[in-house]
Amino acid sequence: MRRIGFVGWRGMVGSVLMERMRAEGDFGRIPEPVFFSTSQAGQPGPDIGREVPPLADARDLEALAAMDAIVSCQGGDYTREIHPRLRAAGWDGYWIDAASALRMEPTSVIVLDPVNGDAIRDALVRGVRDFIGGNCTVSLMLMAVGGLFRAGLVEWVSSMTYQAASGAGAQNMRELLAQMGRLREAAGDALDDPARGILEIDRAVTEALRAADFPTAHFGVPLAGSLIPWIDVPMPDGRSREEWKGAVETNKILGREDNPIPVDGICVRIGAMRCHSQALTIKLTRDVPLDELEAIIAEANAWVRVVPNERERTVRELTPAAVTGTLDIPVGRLRKLAMGPQYLGAFTVGDQLLWGAAEPLRRMLGILLE
Ligand code: HSE
Repeated sequence: MRRIGFVGWRGMVGSVLMERMRAEGDFGRIPEPVFFSTSQAGQPGPDIGREVPPLADARDLEALAAMDAIVSCQGGDYTREIHPRLRAAGWDGYWIDAASALRMEPTSVIVLDPVNGDAIRDALVRGVRDFIGGNCTVSLMLMAVGGLFRAGLVEWVSSMTYQAASGAGAQNMRELLAQMGRLREAAGDALDDPARGILEIDRAVTEALRAADFPTAHFGVPLAGSLIPWIDVPMPDGRSREEWKGAVETNKILGREDNPIPVDGICVRIGAMRCHSQALTIKLTRDVPLDELEAIIAEANAWVRVVPNERERTVRELTPAAVTGTLDIPVGRLRKLAMGPQYLGAFTVGDQLLWGAAEPLRRMLGILLE
């Protein structure tokens, strides 16, 4: 493993990946990192603490084929354009990708090594070459309650999501902030005057929310002060594509495509910046005491943490505000539901740019570099 190519390293997920790689000293383990660009070939490469060659052209198939592995955060269109041509030309290097384009291909493995590290290593032995990061919501759910799946305790799971703006892209995060600013402006001086009625303020804010010039170019509708109960395109059966991914990707990661565990729910966009949250209803395969379930969840990996089902701890620790920018995966609100002793309720939060996107790719590269 000498030459590793990076494509799309300047975008949002790519930048988080670069930050993490710098923080962990990963570049010290790569003899020849090569940075590609779709628009700025020839310009100087990024600062990784040592000399790197000028940017290579991300559409130069020969330059790409000289890599032992390519890590792409460039997006699905790039993957669909370049990957088949590289493979057709006989390139057998490792392709590590954040985009969903190749995820469900039989020749791909979805990478989330704290959950499916054994499957990844088996795949490497079998000669698999395409290792693709999972959907953020799926990866975050499995980081949170993977222990229950591993213990064979999940009959089905319903995940109701609260997904951050970052999942829709950098422009959407900017738009969310622009919308928030517009609402604050609409409230005007009345907000600083405790004597003014809240209903008067609310009327002004609602008017702004519904105004033709409210900034909605990216979301299509208001998100700030509202929510959007649909993510991605429709599927023929009434699910959104995000909901469909929840089912198929979970089972692919768990190696259960022939005997899938039902996973379903409603995916909702909310006005958080980069943390996805999920309220889970889990039907257990048998009645297990709550303290045992908590231990199984907590022991599954080094990042998951059980938050006691107490008000103070929950409102402080189990929120996007607390988790954003960290690798923590808190799981809380754990309790048996009124439906019966085999029904477990849970709530979990995770940074969708870290465990939801960049970190599984970084760790996959680490496995190749072992
Ligand atoms: N589809 C996700 C979302 C992004 O829209 O939040 C990460 O997979």
